[in-house]
Order: sequence, then C-alpha cells, then structure tokens
Amino acid sequence: LQLMLMGLPGAGKGTQAEQIVDEYKIPHISTGDIFRAAIKNQTPMGVEAKKYIDKGELVPDDVVNGIVKERLGQDDVQNGYMLDGFPRNMVQARALKEFSAELGQPLNCVINIHVDPESLMERLTGRFICKNCGATYHKVFNPTKVEGTCDRCGGHEFFQRDDDKPETVENRLKVNIEMNTPLLDFYREEGILHEVNGNQPIEKVFADIKQILDAIK
Ligand code: AP5
Ligand code: ZN
Repeated sequence: LQLMLMGLPGAGKGTQAEQIVDEYKIPHISTGDIFRAAIKNQTPMGVEAKKYIDKGELVPDDVVNGIVKERLGQDDVQNGYMLDGFPRNMVQARALKEFSAELGQPLNCVINIHVDPESLMERLTGRFICKNCGATYHKVFNPTKVEGTCDRCGGHEFFQRDDDKPETVENRLKVNIEMNTPLLDFYREEGILHEVNGNQPIEKVFADIKQILDAIK
C-alpha cells in the first residue's frame, strides 16, 4: 500500500493516520511532523522552515521534495508507506511521481478527506496534542476520556501548535485551498483518487477509509 492522505488543514489527516498506522503497520510520513521535529531540534532546515510555517505559508518545494525523497529511500519503506501533507501542489506531485517510480514505490491510493471549510477554523483552534506521544485531541470533538490525561500514553502535558492561532490558520486555509483543486484533478485523472466525507465522527471516517483500503490491499 502506497498511500497519500489529502485534506485541508484540520480535515483530520493526522487523526486518521494514527488509526491507519495501528491497523496497517505502514510508516507514517508527515512533512508537518518532520518540520516540527526539526524546529524543536533547531536544525538549519528547521530554522528555515519555521519562517514559512509561522506565517501559514508553504515551505519551498525543493526543500520538501528533498526530504520526502530521502525518507522514501529508507529501509522501513520497502513494504509501503503513508504520506500525510505531501504533495501539496503540482510541483511536488510531479516530483513525487518521478522519484517514487525510481524507487519502485509509486502511489497507488490517494484518499481525500473532504470537510466543509467553515468548520476547519474551529477544529484547528480547539486542537491540543499530547507532549509525550503526539496524540491529537480536540476540546469539544475529541476530548481525552479522563480530563488532563492522555488516553494513549497516560501523559499529563499537552500543547497547542504555534500555527493554530486564528491569524495563521486563516492564511493556511487560503494557501491550501488554492492548491487543492489542481491536485485533486491530477489524482482523479491518474485513477487513484478516493473521496471520504470528513464531516462525520472520527470513527465513521475511519470506517470509510478502512473499506477503501481493504479493497486495495
Ligand atoms: P501540517 O502539519 O501537515 O498541517 P496541515 O496540513 O495544516 O494539517 P493539520 O496537521 O493542521 O491538520 P490535520 O488534517 O492533520 O488535522 P488533525 O487530524 O490534527 O503542516 C504544517 C505546516 O508545515 C504547513 O502549514 C506548511 O507550512 C508546512 N508544510 C507541511 N507539509 C508541506 C508541504 N508538503 N509543502 C510545503 N510546506 C509544507 O485534526 C484537527 C483537529 O480536528 C483535531 O483537534 C482533531 O481532534 C479534530 N478532528 C479530527 N477529525 C475530526 C472529526 N471527524 N470530527 C471532529 N473533529 C475532528
Ligand atoms: Zn500521550
């Protein structure tokens, strides 16, 4: 399974990715997570990427393409992978098509999680994340079972992403909406696009995704 999860900021890519990893045991490659780790470690790439991320802009294509190409070449990717948040525009999509073919691992499934744009602001500004294990929650839509305790690891510390401030979210949505339609058209033409209704409870979205993936495997 060579999968790409698509969806606007807040559509639920990360949330569904956690469940897909548990079920299908494929490596989760999130460009957003790679950048956040690099920022935390203050690597040169992280320092550079932060300038864009803080404004809700995309990190330059050559940087992102290089990172994903290298990641797909690693040993754990030999039996499939799940991309989350990449590609985000046509330059990235064409680059991926080329280097994934070279690696003998072309995409065979794209799942677009479609959510009405109006609800995305609320999803992003209410999101909080476990500091210890990275599990994602929402104040209203997906709270922890016991208040202040992570369901997955029992941790007690949580944080909000810097780019989830309303001003930044507004620009992230604008930038991503512009890029979205050509990408969807591209994968529709490739015959590998599947649409899932993301305006449903998390478990229902996952059930729909599972149905698609089980038919492909
Ligand atoms: P990235 O980390 O990929 O952010 P994003 O695309 O904006 O997506 P998010 O992670 O914010 O949302 P998500 O869809 O994963 O939603 P989640 O599951 O958390 O990228 C960050 C930045 O890095 C970019 O802005 C860019 O600058 C840079 N970058 C990354 N990739 C790049 C690339 N390829 N090229 C250039 N730059 C790049 O859910 C959101 C909230 O909703 C949570 O609170 C969750 O609990 C809740 N929720 C989830 N599902 C549901 C549901 N079904 N119903 C109700 N609530 C739900
Ligand atoms: Zn945790």
